[in-house]
Amino acid sequence: EKGGYEHFMLKEIHEQPNAIKDTLRGRIVNDNEIVLDKVNITKDEIDKIDKIFIVACGTAYHAGVVGKYVIEKFARIPVEVDIASEFRYREPIINKNTLTIVVSQSGETADTIAALKEAKRNGSKVIAITNVVGSSISREADDVIYTWAGPEIAVASTKAYTTQLVALYLIALDLALKKGTIDKEYAKAICDELKQLPDKAKHILDYKDELQEFAANHFNSKDVFYLGRGLDYAVAMEGSLKLKEISYIHSEAYAAGELKHGTLALIEDGTLVIALATQEHLFEKMLSNIREVTTRGGYVLAFAMKGNNQLEGIVEKVLYIPKTMEEVAPIITVIPLQLLAYYMAVEKGCDVDKPRNLAKSVTVE
Ligand code: F6R
Repeated sequence: EKGGYEHFMLKEIHEQPNAIKDTLRGRIVNDNEIVLDKVNITKDEIDKIDKIFIVACGTAYHAGVVGKYVIEKFARIPVEVDIASEFRYREPIINKNTLTIVVSQSGETADTIAALKEAKRNGSKVIAITNVVGSSISREADDVIYTWAGPEIAVASTKAYTTQLVALYLIALDLALKKGTIDKEYAKAICDELKQLPDKAKHILDYKDELQEFAANHFNSKDVFYLGRGLDYAVAMEGSLKLKEISYIHSEAYAAGELKHGTLALIEDGTLVIALATQEHLFEKMLSNIREVTTRGGYVLAFAMKGNNQLEGIVEKVLYIPKTMEEVAPIITVIPLQLLAYYMAVEKGCDVDKPRNLAKSVTVE
């Protein structure tokens, strides 16, 4: 049932090209029109929305952080991302002009269900992004977008995350096109890139052997830092969570500009730092942050966009993300981070598919 793979997680990482394709299927028509069958939000309703909440837990929360950047950029509506267990108890400011998007692979996470109910009780329309047809969250929400990732068995979420990102990009485009905040050409360019991601995701899986070798040399790390700016910061959070949950190596994700405000004190000779530098408009800033780390002896594995060789010779190792628009890069940038976490855990002899203390579906708070 693992299709020849040693673990479900590795199988599910490899299923991502198809999962992305399936989640896009039929939803982009005529180059730049978005069709979300179970989402019935009208232009009138969208024009009245003055705030969007994205609420979720864990990996789904990290998908929400990407969603915030993208919805704000495309649709120019303020977005707040919140952890469901916080949102539900803090009396968030919600009214009928608020749109709430809940994200949940299982559709059964107790805190996310409670957050959904809290939003509805206060008059907010709720759109659910979920992977399970007929799940509690799909039934309670007003509208649903399914991620067609197929069953995810490994506790560590992989293909659910990438397809949640796809769903969030589609919502962002839909809102923006209806609102008129994005021009048609730009929307078409984004749509074209989204359609090419399954192929690019396939290419990036070729880094497997290199990442396995890297993991074999670094699985003894005590602390790992993931750095990025903008969308790369959002991806850094997810990469860091993957490493923690399956390899039990302590790691933290930092917005690279925050380094000087404390974290830099933790960088010593040989500290492993994963630097994400796919965002071209932030590249120069990221480059200075990377130098701050290398100057202090940090050992840097960087990810950059293909065609940008400026990190060669500055960091220990650079891996290249297939050239894509920086706006959609997170969907493929996360894949090598999943592989890295996977191989670190395998090298340490961890139970990859069933990490200690964790359950696949958290139905109690
Ligand atoms: C991490 C992971 C968890 C889940 C979280 C939410 O790899 O799997 O962080 O993302 O428990 O679960 P769902 O998406 O089912 O609500």
